[in-house]
Amino acid sequence: MTERLGGSVQRLAAGAPLPDWVARLDRTAFGSAWKAPANHEALWLMPELAFARWTRIPAAGEAELLRIAVDPAHRGHSLGRTLLEACQRDLEAEGITRLYLEVRVSNAAAIRLYGACGWQRRGLRPAYYPDGEDAALFHHTKS
Ligand SMILES: CC(C)(COP(=O)(O)OP(=O)(O)OC[C@H]1O[C@@H](n2cnc3c(N)ncnc32)[C@H](O)[C@@H]1OP(=O)(O)O)[C@@H](O)C(=O)NCCC(=O)NCCS
Repeated sequence: MTERLGGSVQRLAAGAPLPDWVARLDRTAFGSAWKAPANHEALWLMPELAFARWTRIPAAGEAELLRIAVDPAHRGHSLGRTLLEACQRDLEAEGITRLYLEVRVSNAAAIRLYGACGWQRRGLRPAYYPDGEDAALFHHTKS
């Protein structure tokens, strides 16, 4: 129920059930597991290792990165970068060229990853998270 996209990155087919390992990694990384993607969402996978979930607005050429996670035992080996760059290429191929995300200002690993993948910090959302932490706003635009 996935489409192969080259390398080890796959895209979950529309309507496919969420693999159990994605729910497990979601809980490990974020403390909660989201359900299978809705119609406007898309999920890219590196099986058993990493996932990235996006919400897409194709008519506006925009997408937001909602969650990206790598299995804790495999972090720091460029999987996050490989996955995020594959997502960016696929979205651009669909004509979705304006990407954005919010991230906790304390999340140094994610902020480094986004910088490495060409994202730029564009602002701050004060007290964005329920615990009061600020979010940094990042944009990525295909030139
Ligand atoms: C953020 C996350 C996805 C990064 O995945 P990863 O596979 O470890 O990242 P990569 O190995 O591809 O590294 C990408 C860049 O981030 C840097 N990086 C990775 N881990 C880091 C850390 N703990 N501290 C600082 N920088 C780090 C790498 O050095 C690399 O930068 P460089 O190319 O300039 O050297 C991973 O840490 C994770 O799953 N975190 C928990 C979930 C999360 O916070 N997601 C983001 C918010 S949705």
